[in-house]
This record gives sequence, C-alpha cells and structure tokens, in this order.
Amino acid sequence: QTFFRQIELAAPPSPTKRHTKISVVGAGNVGMAIAQTILTQDVADELVLIDAKPEKLRGEMLDLQHAAAFLPRTKIQASVDYALTVGSDLCIVTAGARQIPGESRLNLLQRNVTLFRSIIPPLARYSPETILLIVSNPVDVLTYVAWKLSGFPSNRVIGSGTNLDSSRFRFLIADHLDVNAQDVQAFIVGEHGDSSVALWSSISVAGVPVLSFLEKQQIAYEKVTLQNIHKEVIDSAYEVISLKGYTSWAIGYSVANLARSILRDQRKIHPVSVVANGFYGIEGGDVFLSLPAQLGRGGVLGVANVHLTDEEAHQLRDSAKTILEVQNQLGI
Ligand code: NAI
Ligand code: 2OP
Repeated sequence: QTFFRQIELAAPPSPTKRHTKISVVGAGNVGMAIAQTILTQDVADELVLIDAKPEKLRGEMLDLQHAAAFLPRTKIQASVDYALTVGSDLCIVTAGARQIPGESRLNLLQRNVTLFRSIIPPLARYSPETILLIVSNPVDVLTYVAWKLSGFPSNRVIGSGTNLDSSRFRFLIADHLDVNAQDVQAFIVGEHGDSSVALWSSISVAGVPVLSFLEKQQIAYEKVTLQNIHKEVIDSAYEVISLKGYTSWAIGYSVANLARSILRDQRKIHPVSVVANGFYGIEGGDVFLSLPAQLGRGGVLGVANVHLTDEEAHQLRDSAKTILEVQNQLGI
C-alpha cells in the first residue's frame, strides 16, 4: 500500500546516471558548514555524516533533515559506524583537533595523524573507488598521510589546500579595486598556511593582467601594498579564530564548490593540494601542496602550467621544504 496509485511501466526505469553519495567525517563546525552548503547546492543524492559523538551526530542529522521542505531532495543519514559510508563517490574528512587562538596549523599534526589511522583505512575499505577530499589541518601533510594510509592513486586524494586562501585573496583584491571577487582571477599556491605563495604575476580582472596594466598606465603601486594583502590572507584564519573560535562558513563554501567540480565533472581549475614533486623544480620526496589543478569525476585531471616568476617559484620550493621537514618527522 503506497500513497500513490502506481502506474504500470512498460519498461523498468533506467538507473539514475548521476546518483551521488558524499560522506563527511567530522560533524563539527567545519563538517556541518560543508554539509549544509552541499545540501543547498544540489550535488548529493545521499549525504552521510560520521563522527565519534553519537548524540551530537544524531542532533545534527535531525536538524538538517528538518530543512527538507526547503532543499533539493537528499537522503541524509548519520552513524558512528563507517559501514554507512559504503559506496561513497566522495569522502570529505574534517575530523580532528583545531587550533586554539594563536596556534599554528602544523602544531595539530601529531594529534590528527593518530585520528587518521582510525579514519582513512575504513573509508578506503568501504569505498575503494572513492575520491578522498581532506580538510583537517595541517591539510597538506594530512593529505599525504591519507594518500599513504589509503593506498589510492594520487589523483583520488586531494587536499582542500589554498582554494580557501585564494578566495580570501580574491575578496581582498576585489575590495581594493572595487570590483566583483568572481571577476578576479588570482591564486595562492603552496602550503595552506604560513608559507603560502601569492602569484601576483598572474592576477587578472576580466582577463586584464593587473600588474602590467598598472605599469602601462604608470599608476604607482607599492610592493608593500601587495605584501600587506598577502599578509592579510595569511592572518585571516588567525583573526577569525581569535574572534569567534573557529572558521567555518568560507571553508564550507570552498569545499562544496570543490565537491561540485568533482562530482559534476566540471573540469574547473582550483588551487588544491596535489602531489607536487617535479613541478617548478620541487624535489626532496613526495609532497602535497596546492597548485592550480583541473578537477573532474576522476579526481585530479591535470595541473595547469601557470607561469611563475623566478621569485614565486623560489617561494614555492621553500613552501615545499617547510611541509617536507614536518612530514619527514612522521616516519610514514
Ligand atoms: P570541531 O572540534 O568543531 O569538530 C571536529 C569534529 O571531529 C568533532 O565533532 C569531533 O567529535 C570529531 N572527531 C574527533 N575524532 C573523531 C574520530 N576519530 N572520528 C570521527 N570524528 C571525530 O573542529 P572544526 O572547527 O570542525 O575543525 C575541524 C578541522 O578542520 C580542524 O583540524 C581544523 O583545523 C580544520 N580546518 C581546516 C580548514 C582548511 O581550510 N583546510 C578550514 C577550517 C578548519
Ligand atoms: C582556515 O584557514 C583554520 O585552516 C583554517 O580557516
């Protein structure tokens, strides 16, 4: 007995081609911001939340389910048991310790590596074809750890990296030039953190290269102004954490945007954490850091060959060294 009288179908319905399942591990500030943004963007048919705290998890699940009347239809489930993640197309990992005011991301490493040993193997076991999208900090080193623990090919292990820093950068440049941030093409690359690199040489607004335009117009710009904007990007998270205790909304939009590019095979370029050895003279071992990468249903499809000045390439290699020094202490 169903509510509707069934219609006799001549042929059974063909399976939905784009059925997508996303699992989010960690139902804290970041995991929930990502989950709710994903729901508004209609990228998942199924959304699974995993956390270690069952009451909090059930509360978050119910609260999201109660918004069903206002959202695209998505089946929302939650559990402490990883079996629920079976067959996920995308697994987003946000579980773990976060910074207290003034603490650096790299300082979280040991605590979060321990957690990853209990998180990544079951995710990989239940969804051997999934794409892993790592958000927990320090995101670049933890993306390397997830790659090692999963045994996945590197194109299916991605760190959210500097997609967020680049959005902060675009916001600040747009504010400075009084234009729309969506019209600003600008990348922050390297570590998601204190050694990130601003690619000033390739910034453009509506296709117009900003620095050479200013030079041609003989409009003086101070190098220090540019450095201050980059410093503001680096200080952004510290400032928000000191004010509200954590960051959540911007990372929520940033990761939902990545999920859409991956699952809807958008083939868009995002600065995300990918295996970087061999690019721009980076050497010294396997290292994940952010480069402008093309994302689609297969994960990382390629890395864009953006022109870097000698100074930018040098800074990028230094950023790689910073990450490798931390990574080498892990013995993974
Ligand atoms: P939070 O403390 O609000 O949430 C962490 C959640 O992880 C909690 O709900 C906790 O119960 C859960 N958890 C702990 N151990 C677990 C386990 N073994 N299995 C499953 N769940 C477990 O922290 P918040 O603010 O959500 O931050 C989470 C992480 O995201 C931090 O590492 C933070 O630094 C990072 N982050 C990364 C950003 C990026 O751009 N990559 C941006 C913002 C935060
Ligand atoms: C952020 O940049 C804390 O990594 C986090 O918002």
